[in-house]
Amino acid sequence: MTGSLRCVSGRSLPHTKNTNMLDPHQEKVLILDFGSQYTQLIARRVRELKVYCEIHPYIMSLESIREFAPQGIILSGGPRSVYDRDAPSVDPDLFTLGVPVLGICYGIQLLNHLLGGEVAPAGAREYGHKTFTISNFDDLFYGLNAEEQVWMSHGDRVEHLAPGFEVIGRSDSCPTGAIRDLSRRLYGVQFHPEVHHTPRGKEILSNFLFRICKLNPLWTMASFIETTTENIRQQVGDGQVICALSGGVDSSVTAVLVHRAIGDRLTCVFVNNGLLRKREAEEVFHLFREHQHLNLVYVDATVDFLCQLEGVIDPEEKRRRIGHEFIRIFAAEAKKLGGVKFLAQGTLYPDVIESVSFKGPSATIKTHHNVGGLPTIMPLKLLEPLRELFKDEVREVGQELGLPDSLVWRHPFPGPGLAIRILGEVTAEKLDILREADAIVSEMMLASEFYRQVWQAFAVLLPIRTVGVMGDERTYEFVVALRIVDSIDAMTADWSRLPHEFLAGIANRIINEVKRVNRVVLDISSKPPSTIEWE
Ligand code: XMP
Repeated sequence: MTGSLRCVSGRSLPHTKNTNMLDPHQEKVLILDFGSQYTQLIARRVRELKVYCEIHPYIMSLESIREFAPQGIILSGGPRSVYDRDAPSVDPDLFTLGVPVLGICYGIQLLNHLLGGEVAPAGAREYGHKTFTISNFDDLFYGLNAEEQVWMSHGDRVEHLAPGFEVIGRSDSCPTGAIRDLSRRLYGVQFHPEVHHTPRGKEILSNFLFRICKLNPLWTMASFIETTTENIRQQVGDGQVICALSGGVDSSVTAVLVHRAIGDRLTCVFVNNGLLRKREAEEVFHLFREHQHLNLVYVDATVDFLCQLEGVIDPEEKRRRIGHEFIRIFAAEAKKLGGVKFLAQGTLYPDVIESVSFKGPSATIKTHHNVGGLPTIMPLKLLEPLRELFKDEVREVGQELGLPDSLVWRHPFPGPGLAIRILGEVTAEKLDILREADAIVSEMMLASEFYRQVWQAFAVLLPIRTVGVMGDERTYEFVVALRIVDSIDAMTADWSRLPHEFLAGIANRIINEVKRVNRVVLDISSKPPSTIEWE
């Protein structure tokens, strides 16, 4: 595709509302967060068990909790001691709501403490794998063995039980490792059932949800799609919506979902900034226009971005200029369309939790909403249909909506694109070199079983040249670094230990096929202290 191409197509997908579908939000669990590093994991496990849940900071008022009307409450772990000054706590009336409660780690201690029991420092801190002995298999531990492996991480423990409680499990150094008050349906476990190191933890959570709280597994992505489609229709009314489509999973699923709800009243804008991967612009355009039949405005802004980047070396300055240019172009497109009231964005649940967490935004997380500055310069209301979902749920929605695997499982690609993978000044020539090298990495990864195993795999073009020998000739050319990492959420990452032969194959192809590159190196740094991207 060359030149500025403007294509507005339109045919909305057939949509029939299934009125038998239950609202997947009608049964829900509240997770009160006391600052544990595992809180999000609790939520993910509950969602995997097909129950809707939300994480809220422990300071949520009793009134708001009543309004939220959960069928079960989970108190997360946390780093504090219940006897600390300003220790995080809840209104003890929480335990009189008649809603089952499961306290995990700090949660069990708080529950016991607030109901009249005693918590004290354990003789020794317990950390890691422990054998746990179960003495009651009625409900929480239904179906488990008398001895199970669990993951412990605590300094304090329940010393004397609150009135009404009994012990249902123990470890060597924690004789009150699991407790319950059957009549009030209050439960506590000192270990972490949500982590993989507790192999049967998911069954324990399942017992809590289905045996104790009597919930039903209503949270499916098919029902999510139905209710969200309906909600989008109501929210938008007869308004027009605009969406910045990047071809990444989040913006793609957002666009297709909104399109399903309101058809041609959604216009997507795809800005080709010239910093994309090889063939990416064509692929995105083809998929969304030809297959998904979206109203798609394609803007070729490659020259504009390249001009903005001329002479810029500083990584933050690159990001800043790319962000501004994007907003300028996008706002101009929105203005051309006229009458747009909503901006659809692919915000996910981890971003939402991060902004309401009582810990405040963590310094380790970058949020990258490339159109984040828009609503301030244009009076647009935000439409964020994925703001309740975790990434794996978004992928599932994408699959349900019929998006191809190649898109649903696509590795993350940064908004500033190849510009932050070309160290130093970005030029058209360097973009061509990196695009070719990157295409080889992608092609070989996709053809192997490693693509789905790793978080990201890409090439970086270094601003240095080294000596080599090709045929009988001495060369003096550029260096490409391979960055291939394993990660769960991009907050931490480690370099992937892929077979040497496989890596050698990538290096050989790059050196032989990409002009102006005569050396390939492998990045073996973890995050932290390094980052995944080089700039
Ligand atoms: P870092 O380099 O901070 O990256 O370890 C973490 C994850 O975020 C991606 N990333 C971005 N995504 N816009 C984006 O949409 C950006 O500006 C951006 N910078 C980094 C990166 O690829 C990795 O997955």
